[in-house]
Parts: sequence; C-alpha cells; structure tokens
Amino acid sequence: MGSQSKLSILFTSEEIEATVSKLAAEIRQDYLGKHPILIGVLKGSFMFMADLIRLLDFPLEVEFIRLSSYGGGRKSSGKIKVVQGLQSEVRGRHILVIEDIVDTGLTTGFLLDYLGKKKPASLRLCALTDKPSRRKTPVTIDYRGLTVPDKFIVGYGLDWDEKFRYLPDICVLENEG
Ligand code: IMP
Repeated sequence: MGSQSKLSILFTSEEIEATVSKLAAEIRQDYLGKHPILIGVLKGSFMFMADLIRLLDFPLEVEFIRLSSYGGGRKSSGKIKVVQGLQSEVRGRHILVIEDIVDTGLTTGFLLDYLGKKKPASLRLCALTDKPSRRKTPVTIDYRGLTVPDKFIVGYGLDWDEKFRYLPDICVLENEG
C-alpha cells in the first residue's frame, strides 16, 4: 500500500450521524433504567462509542476491552486474546458490546463467548458496520448500523495499519496497482 492506495467515500459523516442517532434511540428504549455497561472494543470503536454515548442521556457505565486482531495486515489471524481487560464486574449486569465492524465474526464471537461465561444478566451486541459477505462464524447483531460490501473500509475510528482513523467519513481503501 502507501502511495498506491486510493480512498473513496462509502458513508458520509452525515449518514454516519443519522445511523448513530437511530441506534441510540433503539438502545435508549431497551436500556433506560437498566444501568447497563457499554463495552467498547478498542481501538476501532472509540469514535462511535463517544458519539453514541453522547446521545444516551441515562445512567450507564463505560468500559473498554482490547483484543488482539489484525496485527497490521488485512487478514485476521483468527487467533484472538484479551490484551486489555475489564475493570468492572460483569456478573449480573446488562452488557452491551459496542463494535466498529463485524467482519469474519471471529473477534466478536470470541468476545461474546468470553463475556457470556462471566454470567451477565443480559448480553447484546451493537455494531456500527456489518460485512456479512465475509462471515465465518454466525454472530447475532442486536443493533446493526450500516451494511458494507466486501471491501476494506477505513475512517471514523477504523484503520488500516493504524492509519486513517481520523477521517470523518467511512471510506473504501482501494489498491490502485
Ligand atoms: P473479525 O474478522 O470480525 O474478527 O474482525 C476483526 C477486526 O478486524 C475488527 O474488529 C476490525 O478491527 C478489523 N477489521 C475487519 N474488517 C475491517 C475493515 O474493513 N476495515 C478496518 N478494520 C477491519
């Protein structure tokens, strides 16, 4: 990659904003009064998490978890482990996982299993983007934002090799070679 790569906008910041508002309204309706813990999956979900939580005007807790995933390339290694864990007790709590993207589903599937073993009162998933064409393991997305084609996307928190997270739009990263 490098000078050979080209970005084209897939979802504008306005489309993203509308999607985040729609998801926030659904989440608000289901979690009001339940004092949930929202667990953002680092690093990709940080921007989505911040915008989403700003729209949720009721008591909730914020956590982050970091899992090993791509390691700087475009292919998931399939090996997942918790690199940075949780501070809060999950048992008996309403847990909502906040993902930037569900691609093969391996990372999210691992995380939902990991959290499920901790016996939460409930466990659901909110994903800003979904790339269903690449799924290797079934994952139920309770709050789904934007469906993306089988392309590598960057921006709004999503990276390629730590680049492009700052972009306000979600863009397709194309190889021009
Ligand atoms: P999985 O394949 O569903 O396990 O996705 C693992 C992780 O790969 C996601 O949490 C993202 O961080 C990253 N990922 C997958 N697809 C993309 C993409 O199109 N752009 C940027 N990151 C991606």
